[in-house]
Amino acid sequence: MTRVTAESDGRANDRMKHYYERYAKGGFAAIISEGIYTDQKHSQGYDNQPGLATKEHVEAWKPIVETVHEHGTKMIAQLMHAGAIRGVVGSKFVVGIRLSQGKVSDQAYKWPGGEETAETIFTTIGELPIDYIHVTDGDGTAESFGEGSRSMAKAAKDFGGKPVIANGKLGDPDQALKAVEEEGADFVSLGTGALANPDTPHRVQKGLELKEFDAESILFPIAHVKDMELNMDIK
Ligand SMILES: Cc1cc2nc3c(=O)[nH]c(=O)nc-3n(C[C@H](O)[C@H](O)[C@H](O)COP(=O)(O)O)c2cc1C
Repeated sequence: MTRVTAESDGRANDRMKHYYERYAKGGFAAIISEGIYTDQKHSQGYDNQPGLATKEHVEAWKPIVETVHEHGTKMIAQLMHAGAIRGVVGSKFVVGIRLSQGKVSDQAYKWPGGEETAETIFTTIGELPIDYIHVTDGDGTAESFGEGSRSMAKAAKDFGGKPVIANGKLGDPDQALKAVEEEGADFVSLGTGALANPDTPHRVQKGLELKEFDAESILFPIAHVKDMELNMDIK
């Protein structure tokens, strides 16, 4: 998730290392990084975004990835410019694609042809040289294309034929279970739930309380990583 905490030249830093380590320490199986830009000409989206465009960028990420790996957690780079990525990384890297109906500028947007459009989109994506599909929706388990229709996760699974990561209010363990057992998701991912509880997996395992996400304290006035987050007690 985007946290505008990198150096101004795009190098990842110690603060980010500490930030990501909390999720690894807190029991997450994998961490999807914030959006990383891939070239120095056109792909940077915002200030203090990390890059993977230069040798210095690569070196700066290494200690973060190594620290995360020390906890047995995998690290997935969220690369922007997804279409061109398989060609760049070759066949050995796991590459996935993430999509939603909602747009940044119109969260409520739905594909005009409903489930039929979903079938076309996921069938097409399923034929691309990618390894998984990551979908998000307001509610990751809800009917996504009108009454009686599939959820995004189920549509991705049925039509795309690849492993699916489901997202959308799945910080609630019952909802996460439903996404896996009823909607066919292979993995679930957490956004706000993980921001509030970087140790969600351990808290759920131990039956501990999950804190509510408070946008005010974590994301305002800007979304950079706060001391308060780094000082959280990780279970
Ligand atoms: C601070 C913040 C940063 C985010 N950054 C990204 C991002 O870089 N890429 C992305 O695909 N989604 C991003 N998202 C969306 C989340 O990945 C997720 O889809 C959303 O929070 C809904 O999931 P949730 O109900 O588990 O929170 C971000 C969300 C938040 C709150």
